[in-house]
Amino acid sequence: MTDTTNRITIRRPDDWHVHLRDGAMLEAVAGFTASQFGRAIIMPNLSPPVTSAASAAAYRDRIMAALPAGSDFTPLMTCYLTDDADADDLASGHADGIFTAAKLYPANATTNSAHGVTDVAHIMPVLERMQHIGMPLLVHGEVTNSDIDIFDREAVFIERVLKKLIRAMPGLKIVFEHITTAQAVQFVDSAGPNVAATITPHHLHINRNAMFVGGMRPHAYCLPVAKREQHRLALRKAATSGSPKYFLGTDSAPHEIHAKESACGCAGIFNAPFALESYAAIFEEEGALERLEGFASVHGANFYGLPVNEAMVSLERSEIAVPDTIDANGATLVPFHAGAALPWRIAQA
Ligand code: DOR
Ligand code: ZN
Repeated sequence: MTDTTNRITIRRPDDWHVHLRDGAMLEAVAGFTASQFGRAIIMPNLSPPVTSAASAAAYRDRIMAALPAGSDFTPLMTCYLTDDADADDLASGHADGIFTAAKLYPANATTNSAHGVTDVAHIMPVLERMQHIGMPLLVHGEVTNSDIDIFDREAVFIERVLKKLIRAMPGLKIVFEHITTAQAVQFVDSAGPNVAATITPHHLHINRNAMFVGGMRPHAYCLPVAKREQHRLALRKAATSGSPKYFLGTDSAPHEIHAKESACGCAGIFNAPFALESYAAIFEEEGALERLEGFASVHGANFYGLPVNEAMVSLERSEIAVPDTIDANGATLVPFHAGAALPWRIAQA
């Protein structure tokens, strides 16, 4: 039952794109994601990247070991594709339930993507196999050419790479990840049901000005970089439209404060601690709280062919203050919305 004035109850959500890192950082952040979400698609851009079923299984074990006692969170593992990705290992990892999906990082597009794919032509046999077995391809959709303006890299990727890929591989399930432009929305809307997209909370809240308000704001910097206001508005419309093509993917990407506040600050916004609250604020502003459940808890599972979660979670209209910093095993992280308040909080059961 949903009384959207003060309380909403939805199926437990899933996060279809998150960076949990490794080692001490994994230990520090895993609990935030596990407390909000039933499952999450785990990004493989560790150093070195997760490129084999064996390394994914080992990483999954490390994640499970880092979860708080009693957690029933399920990490869904992904394979980092390289130019010489092994289709047999990928397919057997998928059949064995180790790999849920595979991730295409164009080489050097973002953090730890140096081993990424230099040309999609190199991995066509792998993509054919994925199409055949129904394994989703998750795409970081940006070209990396230095002559393309950073704010245009997603739109150019659609024209130069994605449209061709879909023509060549019309049955491949593709998740266009963390979309940031009206062009991406238009592309996803007009593609078949095998093409979907995730949208982050930060790309729904901020436009590119957030990086420059009164000075440089490294904690608003991520990749793909936030775009103009017209793009943010298109994303908000898509996320809250009720379309099954759009679902929750936080892209929570923690970096220690000193790595963000640096002469060459890392890309990534750490939003895991208040992710659902952050999305709820958007859906309320758009007058679409009744559509939050579809976006957060239903569309992604349906796209992946997985059952929706049975557990329920309630949010109540009660302001919650986001701290300036969060301690991560002695390291310091600055969360998204640091120092601000959000209007909805997760109700304690
Ligand atoms: O901002 C980002 N941070 N974008 C990515 O694609 C990677 C991520 C990270 O791993 O830090
Ligand atoms: Zn990411």
